[in-house]
Formats: sequence, structure tokens, C-alpha cells
Amino acid sequence: MPKQTYYITTAIDYPNAKPHIGHAYEKIIADVYARWHELLGNDVFFLTGVDEHGQKIEKTATAAGKRPKEFCDEMALHFQEMCKKLNICNNDFIRTTEKRHTKTALDIFQKAFDKGLIYKGTYTGLYCTGCEAYYTEKDLDNGNCTIHKRPCEKLSEENYFFKIGTFQEKIIKHIETHPGFVQPESRRNEILFRLKKEPLADLSVSRTSISWGIPLPFDKKHVLYVWFDALTNYLSGISYPTKKFQKYWPAQLQLIGKDIIWFHTVIWPAILMAAELPLPKTVFAHGFLTVNGEKMSKSLGNIIDPISVVNTYGADPLRFVLLRDVSAGEDGDFSEKALIDRNNTELADALGNLLQRTNVMVQKYFNGNIPVCGKQTDKEKQLEEAIPEISKLSELLNGYRWNQFVEHIWHYIHKCNKYINDTEPWKQSNDAERLATILYNLVEHLRIISILVYPIIPESSESIAAQIGQKRGTIKNVKFTKKTTGMVSSPKILFRKIETDKPQEPAHKPEDPFGALNLKVASVEKVEPHPNADKLYVVTLNAGNEKRTLVAGLKQYYTPEQLVGKHIIFISNLKPAQLRGVTSQGMMLAGEKNGVVKVLDASIAQPGEQVFIDGVTAHTAQITIDDFMKIKLTTKNKHVVYGEKPLKTKSGIITVDLEDNATIR
Ligand code: MSP
Repeated sequence: MPKQTYYITTAIDYPNAKPHIGHAYEKIIADVYARWHELLGNDVFFLTGVDEHGQKIEKTATAAGKRPKEFCDEMALHFQEMCKKLNICNNDFIRTTEKRHTKTALDIFQKAFDKGLIYKGTYTGLYCTGCEAYYTEKDLDNGNCTIHKRPCEKLSEENYFFKIGTFQEKIIKHIETHPGFVQPESRRNEILFRLKKEPLADLSVSRTSISWGIPLPFDKKHVLYVWFDALTNYLSGISYPTKKFQKYWPAQLQLIGKDIIWFHTVIWPAILMAAELPLPKTVFAHGFLTVNGEKMSKSLGNIIDPISVVNTYGADPLRFVLLRDVSAGEDGDFSEKALIDRNNTELADALGNLLQRTNVMVQKYFNGNIPVCGKQTDKEKQLEEAIPEISKLSELLNGYRWNQFVEHIWHYIHKCNKYINDTEPWKQSNDAERLATILYNLVEHLRIISILVYPIIPESSESIAAQIGQKRGTIKNVKFTKKTTGMVSSPKILFRKIETDKPQEPAHKPEDPFGALNLKVASVEKVEPHPNADKLYVVTLNAGNEKRTLVAGLKQYYTPEQLVGKHIIFISNLKPAQLRGVTSQGMMLAGEKNGVVKVLDASIAQPGEQVFIDGVTAHTAQITIDDFMKIKLTTKNKHVVYGEKPLKTKSGIITVDLEDNATIR
């Protein structure tokens, strides 16, 4: 049987500025659907892209001293990078300046033209460059566009017009007889109300006033109206009219924001009807994001760059908070505080700890081998019953309630944690079968969790599966079995807790390279000679809520007794490295001046405290030693400084008893 196809699209973004968190939000929601359908075994095609023509882009490019195409080439890279950073699994990324697109747009235009649905006339109207649309006086608020809150320009030009009214009754009928076509329900009612109010005026579908667009082949001073151009991306992106197009069209889900619903549920259907193509199954309009309760705007300087948020916190915490905290279909708010709260509670405490505790116990009691499941008690049966029903999860997503989908899965994760607390495996060491059964159950549930969280936090989903020695499965593997075997690997932290007592800088501030470096205070617990190297020590650090082992080249300068008990600074996000057969999980920082070497002194601070410089947020993403070498730290007045800024913790400034301009390594 051929797989069922599932074609999903997002709006294509205007690349007149870098992507913001609203763009990211839409891609993330679409990604959940694409990945869920992939798990279901469907043949998924997920399209996103950028909408590059139009006056707004032309003006912005000119202001930046660039040609529009050159400007778009640069900006498109940011949107592609956003998708990559967020782990968006789009199959293609369409740009409306690509030949494959312009050809399709003109084909569709020609179809309508050949049917006599397009004619030439003169148009005078009030044009909003923000919307790239003409309005009539009554659509405006005191002459201002209701969306962009600024005056519209009066323009008069020779245009081609599309007799969109030809399809008015047909569109109304379609919306009425296909309740799923416009979603959510409230939007459907709004559109129907508007459509039934008055006859649709013919739509101007070409422009002579601008040149940055697709020229009409038979009348080259006209370029195609940007919305006619942009909407057809949904066809060009699947190679209209080839077999690929026939396979995927009509789309199952077209996800857009609430501001562009008219274009997608009235103009787009009219274009499709003119081209005699079926309509998409569903157009769903999501709500708008605000930031800390305010609308994002350049003038408020509160535009959040999703790439920078991912660089600071990782993709999964951002994906999680946007999916979990914003009610599907409604407006919602983004704040770093909410992200940190969700990261620390639902991700680090609930999911991360579940994996960590299970993994550590399987290592401790069974040398990492997944034990065999023995006799199950009611507790295991209850936990098995807590596995979410796939039909329930599908119902939630099919009903566009993705925040409840997330909630439902986390309910199960919380139950797994409760199971650990109830069964207290650490107290079962004299009942080997019971201990094996409990730990088997935990691994097995983690295996199921790794599948269920795949649409939400894909990177962590793969990491959970890998850490319990399994390949991430698909929906058919979401059931409890007694057959899972293999070895768990040594535990790796899934989500680091983000400290909230350190100053948090908004993510939209320009990034300082120092932010890549995550320095922490630790106390030296143990110092032993390296088994294979004369000049090295193997040092055990206590960094608050974790221990680290690392290799340090300090043997010539310190005896073990001199080091033990010291509060030092180490790089906590350095990629682990093998140093002569010992894994080093970080690097202790020391300064050198004129042959004198001293470790940095954090005696004022407690193990685990974050080291920072004012105005920069530390990242948790791993760095390499080469990355570290690029960050120049030195000394001034016995302080350790980066530029002019002293390194400090919440308890005070870090010092080292060396002369100025020492090298810190
Ligand atoms: N280029 C048009 C869409 C053409 S689709 C054929 C466009 N671009 S946009 O860049 O302005 O918006 C792209 C998408 O992002 C839209 O779906 C829009 O609703 C969404 N969002 C823009 N700002 C948003 C928020 N603040 N919050 C959530 N989504 C937002 O419109």
C-alpha cells in the first residue's frame, strides 16, 4: 500500500529583516505536525521559504545600498539558518526569486488570463506597503492601516484585475460545507461574515509602480502582484505540475498567522479555482506572539532573534516553551523567564532527571546492562496504563490543540518520576528481581518517551534513545514490551538547569564572544598523578550539584596538598577530550606571567556558582579548545579581566596573584 501523503506548509516570510520569534513559532508548530506524521509512517512533505518580491523589500534593500536580489540572497540565509538551528525538518525551502517559482506563478496567472478572468484597467486606491495591499477608506482607521497603524499611500496605476468575485459564492459554499477548511472556528466565522457582507471587488494583480517582481511576459512593464506571486509558492515548492505535485497536492495543512487569513482563505481559493485545482484541506491561523507582554517592534527594540535564543539556551527549550505555554490558536507571550522556568522544571527536573536517575542506577546495579524484566506488580501495570493513547494524541493534534498534546505527554513523564519515588529502587538492592524489574520498566518507558517527545524536542528525543542504547522508534513502537535489551551509556546531562540568580541579558542584545564560554566555580576534591603523563594531574572537582574529572598540567607548580580544597574556575562547557587515555571533562583556568603559574582564585565563591562579566549571558552549548583560545582573558590589578571587565560571580570578583597582562589558560 502506498503511504498516505501529508503535505504541510507555513507562510513564506518577508526577508526584509532578520527572522524574529514569531517566524520561529510558526515553523516550530509546523515541525511538530511534520514529525508526528513521520512517526505515523506517512509520506511527509514540509515546505517553508521566503517571499522576496515587493515594494517593502525593494525599499529596504535600496536603503541598505544593495540590489534587491543581493539583499535577499543574504537575508534568505538567516531564515535558512533559523530553520537549521531550530531543527525544523522542512524538505524544501522555496524562494520566490527562484526560476522554478516564477515559472509556476506565471503559469497560474496565464491559466486565469486564458479563462478571461483577468483584464486590464486603471486602479486608484490606498496602498499599505506593510500589507502589500490596497484598501478602501472604510477598511482603514482614520486613514491608517489597521495592522501597521500607519497611513496608506494613494496610488493610481494601470493594473491587471482578477475577477475574484466570480468565485465568491463557490468559496462561501466551500467554507460552509467543509468545516475543517478554515480553522480555528472563530476565524472561520469571521471570514464567512466578511465574505457574505458584500460583493468582492475585482482584485488588482499587477503593478507598474514597482519593478521588483515577476514581469508579465506579455506586458513587461507590469510585475505580478506580490500576493498572487507568493501564494503560488505552495505549488512551485512541490514542482507544479509534475508527478510530485500530483502526489502531494492538495496540502493537508497550511499553517499561517492570523493577519494573513483573508489572503489564504479567500484570495488563494479563488486562484486555485481559476486554475481548476483542489483547495487545501485546512488553513489554520495561529495567534501572535508578544514579548514580555508587548508587541514586537523595532522602535521598542524588543525584537527577539530566535537564532540568538537557540545559541544561548538550545533549540529544545525554546521549542518546548513556545509549544507548551501558548494556547494553540491564541495570542501568547514569550519571555526568557518563562523559557528558563520551563527548562528547569519540565525539561531538566522532570525529563532530564528521569533519564539521569535511571541511567545512573542501571550503571550502578547492572554495570549498564538493561536488566531483564521480572514479575510486574500493580505499580508497573498502573504506569503502563499511563502511556498516552495514540488515538488521544492524534485527536489533540487533529483538533489543533498542540499545547495539550505536550501537556498530555508530560503528564506521563511525571508519572514515571512518581514511579521511581514510589518504588524506591535504591532500597531494593537485596531483591535482585524487583530491582531489575523496576529499572527495566524505567528504561522501557524512557524508550517510549523518546518516541513521543520526538515532534516536540527532537534533539533530546534522539539523545534519550541513544543514552539508553536504543534506536528511536516510531508510533508502532509506542507500547510496553518486555523485550528491550542492550546497554545504557554513561549518563550525559540532557538539560542543564539555567541559574536564575545570575543576571539574564535579553537575547536580542548583540552577542559577545565571551558568552560562548561557560565558566563555573568548583572546589578541588582530589588530585592524583596522571597514570601516563609526568606533568599532568587527574583532578576531581566538586561543582555544586555535579562532579567533574579533568586533566590539569599543574604538576610542576603545585603539590596535590596545595590544590585540594581550593576554589578554582573551570570551563564547564568544553567538549570532553581524551588526554593520554583519561577523559578530561573541562579545563581548570590558571594564569602565567614570567614563568610563574597560579590557578585562578575563587575563594570568595561557592562551588557551582556561575562566573560572568557584566552584560553577557553564558551559553551552555559545547565549545572546543580552539574556540576558547580565541577569547582573550588576562589580568589587571590582580583581577582576571576580559577587555576591561572583571570576571565575577554573584559573591564577588575573581582574582589571581599575578602581575598585569598575564596569560590565562
Ligand atoms: N510574506 C507573507 C506571507 C506570504 S504566504 C504566501 C508574510 N510574511 S511575514 O514575514 O510578515 O509573516 C510570516 C508569518 O509569520 C505569517 O504567518 C505571520 O502571521 C507570522 N508572524 C509574523 N509576526 C508574528 C508574531 N509576532 N507572532 C506569530 N506569528 C507572526 O506575511
